[in-house]
Amino acid sequence: MVNLKNIVETTLVPHTAFEDATQRLEQCFTYADGASEPICIAIVGESRTGKSRALEECFTRHPKARNSEGLTVPILRVKTPSKPTVKGLAELMLRAMNDPKFDTGTENAKTLRLQTLMHNTGTTMVMIDEFQHFYDKGSHKVMHHVADWLKILVDDSKVALVVAGLPTCRAVLDQNEQLAGRFLSPVFMPRFNWRDDDQREEFIGILGAFQDSIGAAFDLPRLDGPEMAFRCYCGTGGLIGYLTKFLRQAIWNALDANTKTIGLPGLLRAHDQAVWAKDGLVSLPSPFAKGFSTTPTDDLIARIKRIGTPSDELPAPVQRRRRAPGVPGIQAVLSAS
Ligand SMILES: Nc1ncnc2c1ncn2[C@@H]1O[C@H](COP(=O)(O)OP(=O)(O)OP(=O)(O)O)[C@@H](O)[C@H]1O
Ligand SMILES: [Mg+2]
Repeated sequence: MVNLKNIVETTLVPHTAFEDATQRLEQCFTYADGASEPICIAIVGESRTGKSRALEECFTRHPKARNSEGLTVPILRVKTPSKPTVKGLAELMLRAMNDPKFDTGTENAKTLRLQTLMHNTGTTMVMIDEFQHFYDKGSHKVMHHVADWLKILVDDSKVALVVAGLPTCRAVLDQNEQLAGRFLSPVFMPRFNWRDDDQREEFIGILGAFQDSIGAAFDLPRLDGPEMAFRCYCGTGGLIGYLTKFLRQAIWNALDANTKTIGLPGLLRAHDQAVWAKDGLVSLPSPFAKGFSTTPTDDLIARIKRIGTPSDELPAPVQRRRRAPGVPGIQAVLSAS
């Protein structure tokens, strides 16, 4: 029996980029064993495009297990701390390997212990999420010491290395030729672009998948219908993570109201509660408002593409478009109670 409150989380959409990413991770995992040099791959994409979910998918296919021969940890997965150091990263890795003394010993002792544990537990792949933290945006410097340590660790252990991060993480590879030389070409997780036929289809396909899972339990306007699909695109900027966040909110609201019906007003409220609109986006109309024009103009699409980007990268506000009377702007919607 499906737990309705988790219906969004339990829906995994195998869209093309996601399938590509997981398939390449699987390939690295399979062929890492016995490879003469480490296989390294990066998953790169804007925030909320599904990088961590792709790592998780591969990680859960090869879980830790305890059998008569002891513990096996096929994949060691960690998130880079915000200011990575060798000590910090090694401790995180030791902890992920269930080492009770993860914080004791010198840098070298920790590294040796980690290598021994990886060897003894049959670790084949190391996953490092939030890899952009290896690059300090403020000083534009790569944390070379920890990047070199990582290179030596995977060289010595002959494991596959997967890193995932925001596009800035490419600077780590661009500035470290030894690491770069070990990496295959990266996998890009996209934000879907309405103007690109294939990507639009892909996004509508994702909406269809959520329609199938949510629609089995709730009565809601068809998400992948022509108008609703565009509204969903405008409400999420083509980012799957914004879509899941907003749909999850709509479901929570329906469950709290003890109803199985989610109408356009319900979607409007959920979007208002779930998707954070920044001051710089004041001129964005609310895509779930009744009078929202579902004509994809260039101006509208250009603004929608900025959803989810850091506010300091936002362009100067574009001239405010005239709104139809009675149609609230996003700011009015966001401040509505
Ligand atoms: N293929 C998918 N099917 C269903 N849900 C997905 C899929 N990909 C991502 N999601 C959901 O979208 C949300 C964002 O995904 P995820 O956390 O993987 O993004 P991310 O790229 O790692 O973002 P960040 O850079 O901010 O860490 C999560 O709730 C995740 O479960
Ligand atoms: Mg992530």
